[in-house]
Amino acid sequence: MSDTPAISVQQLQKRYGSTVAVADVSFQVQPGQIYGVLGPNGAGKTTTLHCICTLLRPDAGQVEVCGIPVQENPKAVREKLGFVAQEVALDKVLTGRELLQLQADIYHMPRPLAQERITAVLQLLDLTDRADERTGTYSGGLRKRLDLAAGLLHQPQVLVLDEPTVGLDIQSRLVIWDFLRQLKAMGITVLLSSHYLEEIDLLADRVAIIDRGTVIAEGTPEELKARVGGERITVKLQEFAPKELAERGAQLLQSLPFVQKVLINSAQGNALNLVVQRNGEDPLNAIRSHLQAHGLEVFSSSQSRPSLDDVYLAATGQTLLDAELAAAEANLGKKKK
Ligand SMILES: Nc1ncnc2c1ncn2[C@@H]1O[C@H](COP(=O)(O)OP(=O)(O)OP(=O)(O)O)[C@@H](O)[C@H]1O
Ligand SMILES: [Mg+2]
Repeated sequence: MSDTPAISVQQLQKRYGSTVAVADVSFQVQPGQIYGVLGPNGAGKTTTLHCICTLLRPDAGQVEVCGIPVQENPKAVREKLGFVAQEVALDKVLTGRELLQLQADIYHMPRPLAQERITAVLQLLDLTDRADERTGTYSGGLRKRLDLAAGLLHQPQVLVLDEPTVGLDIQSRLVIWDFLRQLKAMGITVLLSSHYLEEIDLLADRVAIIDRGTVIAEGTPEELKARVGGERITVKLQEFAPKELAERGAQLLQSLPFVQKVLINSAQGNALNLVVQRNGEDPLNAIRSHLQAHGLEVFSSSQSRPSLDDVYLAATGQTLLDAELAAAEANLGKKKK
């Protein structure tokens, strides 16, 4: 494989009037990777993707697809790249097959080649049985699959998808995830945006987390989570522990060498929230026996690793969910004006 990145974005900027949609976005996608762009509503994901797909002209910065500068040679870029938009606007009267034929016409594909490719993408996306029905009868998941089929018809090396599973039920999301992994196995580079943490965590080889038009963290999901550090353990001494008991437990646990932080969580009935650094042995066992040695019993416990939301929280001071709520409120405010 060549060393040329499949996608290279450097110091991208884009504004709409006085709104800065993208302030400073840089990242590189290597060939064959699944790369995730994660961020709350209004973060600048769609704007970034549109600049990559030649649909928008950047105000500043450099964007290249397979080494081709997007601004200088948009036509060549469009041959390398397929795009699946966030909003699907299918003509409901046409059948799936007819819509794919239209797409083939856009690419000036000779008929016999188009027939061959249409048959292949329908099969790939498991749409053959429904291909001759009007798309108006399709479910959201089916429509999204047809959209993906259209994006793949000209056999691009790079597929860019803007929030491909938004609004889909979990079954349809699983089908799409499976399909994206298949594309990766076929050597196709995939760039997808999402505001679903678990989607990016599961699928992406690397991720850029975007907040208000700026990349705030970049790396593999594992690296980013490791960077915030530590595993999370919650220990309850009783279902609702008296404050004094929780304080005593917290003090005892604080003295353990692998415990980095202990917080008493009153919202969880004075549970103890710990951040621990694993040192080979099972930290829960050590916690349990240390407390026992001082006459305290563990009522219940749970263990979790830091999530991408902890990464977002560490960088921005709020959770992704809070950021989405704030964006929704700001939007509501705009509409009222
Ligand atoms: N055509 C436009 N005209 C004016 N402002 C726009 C336009 N498109 C986007 N914006 C603004 O630019 C910012 C970034 O929008 P963008 O659509 O890129 O975000 P996003 O991360 O894709 O959000 P979402 O998750 O809601 O799709 C937002 O503040 C948005 O309101
Ligand atoms: Mg968007």
